[in-house]
Amino acid sequence: MKFFLDTANLDELKRGAAWGIVDGVTTNPTLIAREGRPIEEQIRLICGVVDGDISAEVISTEAEGMVAEGLKLAAIHKNVVVKCPLTRDGIEATSKLSKQGIRVNVTLCFSAGQALLAAKAGAYIVSPFVGRLDDVGATGMDVVRAIVQIYRNYGYKTQVLAASMRSPAHVIDAALAGAQIATMPFKVLDMLFNHPLTDKGLEQFLKDWGKAFPEPAAGR
Ligand code: E4P
Repeated sequence: MKFFLDTANLDELKRGAAWGIVDGVTTNPTLIAREGRPIEEQIRLICGVVDGDISAEVISTEAEGMVAEGLKLAAIHKNVVVKCPLTRDGIEATSKLSKQGIRVNVTLCFSAGQALLAAKAGAYIVSPFVGRLDDVGATGMDVVRAIVQIYRNYGYKTQVLAASMRSPAHVIDAALAGAQIATMPFKVLDMLFNHPLTDKGLEQFLKDWGKAFPEPAAGR
């Protein structure tokens, strides 16, 4: 499973990248706006930190504008994946960009039917938003499971990226569902490390070692 960080913040990306377990980055207009730099500049900086797929989203709402923006975003760096929303225009833009060899992440996907449209348009990635579905009383992970099954049935190559992850449990469930990618805020990636038995076990090991070898360098 690939782990992407769902942030445009360079400090968070540097911390995650140092662990060697971050395969890519997703951004959206909200995350880019939070950092205060023009999108081209911010995406270029992100590409310098993480070597993997970096999603950058268009803000046009009609197909022609999305294609023009998508071409510009894709020209920033070879790792850029253009993000288009799952609207009629977004799907038209996805078809057009995909035919030109531009990799597209179709975002704001909330149903398996919508995900079928993305696959048929040649999307490289589809992003079902699990947390936002949970927020409105649905079960977001059911949608991820259905998409994985449908894509498998027909051999679609579009990768399923479980987005809007709010907890380590979401990441584990997405892995069990067979999503190829999970994108998560830095906080969720960080929480995946935590287990009280790891802390307790380490404390005990060090205590036992210290008793046997009171001199710091001894016993090595
Ligand atoms: C995905 O690409 C989106 O940027 C993201 O996962 C949305 O998550 P949110 O619902 O926590 O804003």
